[in-house]
Amino acid sequence: GAMLASDAQPLLEITSDVVFLEHGDLVVATKNDISFQELNSGKTVTRQSTKLDWSVEKLNKQGFPHYMLKEIYEQPAVFVDTVNGLIDRARPEPFSMVPQPGVELLDKAKRLILVACGTSWHAALLGKYWLESLSKIPVSVDLASEFRYRNPVLSDGTVVIGISQSGETADTLAVVRECKKLCVPTVAITNVRGSTLSREADAVFYTSAGPEIGVAATKTFTSQLVVMVLFAGYLYNRSSSANAMLLFDEMIRLPHILSDYLGSESGKENSLLEDVKKAARALVNLRGFFLIGRGYSFPMALEGALKLKEIAYVYAEGYAGGELKHGPIAMIDKNMAVVVLAPKDRWREKTISNLQEVKARGAIVLGIGDAADSELRSLCNHWIRLPEVPSPVGENLLPFLLAPAIQLLSYEIAVLRGTDVDKPRNLAKSVTVE
Ligand code: M6R
Repeated sequence: GAMLASDAQPLLEITSDVVFLEHGDLVVATKNDISFQELNSGKTVTRQSTKLDWSVEKLNKQGFPHYMLKEIYEQPAVFVDTVNGLIDRARPEPFSMVPQPGVELLDKAKRLILVACGTSWHAALLGKYWLESLSKIPVSVDLASEFRYRNPVLSDGTVVIGISQSGETADTLAVVRECKKLCVPTVAITNVRGSTLSREADAVFYTSAGPEIGVAATKTFTSQLVVMVLFAGYLYNRSSSANAMLLFDEMIRLPHILSDYLGSESGKENSLLEDVKKAARALVNLRGFFLIGRGYSFPMALEGALKLKEIAYVYAEGYAGGELKHGPIAMIDKNMAVVVLAPKDRWREKTISNLQEVKARGAIVLGIGDAADSELRSLCNHWIRLPEVPSPVGENLLPFLLAPAIQLLSYEIAVLRGTDVDKPRNLAKSVTVE
């Protein structure tokens, strides 16, 4: 017999051998047999099966009340696995990628266009910050659903990178197909081996997040961010190898910092959980949430707002701090929570002035910043402490610490509101239709 699904993940409990269909395939599945034909020609074709290397253990909650929480806690391991999957650690130079066709495409690229949807789009936005500031290569970021219908200019030397954890998102696939027609090279970043995106792009980089069951993307987001930093670091090494080495060293240290920050055991209280729970209880009944940040913290604010919307069903918007005065600040009053992402980085001062603007209008402020930042603490009604990241190079990696803070905040608010955290209403894990 055969079972059919729009994504490999639901089949994992039954088998790890799956057959991925090609575009335009017709499947005839009977009790005893399964065969494949090309819909247009009616020709019978052979489709090989792929063995998924995901362990079934990942498919239970391992003592956590929800998959989402378990997946948030898996982020340090996912970070390490994704680095190890793509980097050749035996080589002395930093960010040395395991050779494969995608690396050659990166080498030749004069311009990168990153396309994705939802959380993967937020990973792409962060990718732009890293890639442009470190590698100096021009990068544009587009929503797949917009890119596919807007006749973009694709000059010589452009490489289009589709980012999709599932590798099955209809809009992202459509972009890759369109680019292929135009002979523009395409690269996939995906978490699913053998997924449609991985087969249709010219080259693929896999994230190693393992199966993600919660509909809200958490660890897959982090794994995509890892790939973004690896790309940026790889290209950075061409122009500035000593600095690339410093960044690489920080990257290798980061999972330890992240793991200490999260605390390793499920449910064990630590400063992060304590801060998040306190803030969630204080803010849960307010009218809505604004999340603001600058630099890396801007896409993180968008991601935090998306998480709040999708699992807690609360009104939440992410803004670049500098945009507040151009309209959204009119929304601020004492019934609005403003989450200010103000880690110790080169944007902190400016973000603090935005904090003061919203505070003056009565907002209830939740600051997320360095544990030693007493000025920030004194300006906020509530706060979530981030661990200290000592060197200036380390500021590039702050999104990895902001991620669990915003994810846990949305998680705790969703739990307080009694929503179905792992299966939020109206959403699906793979969005295979337009
Ligand atoms: O599988 P993809 O990464 O292509 O999915 C894209 C979006 O549908 C996805 O990120 C969605 O926004 C998540 N539910 C966010 O948590």
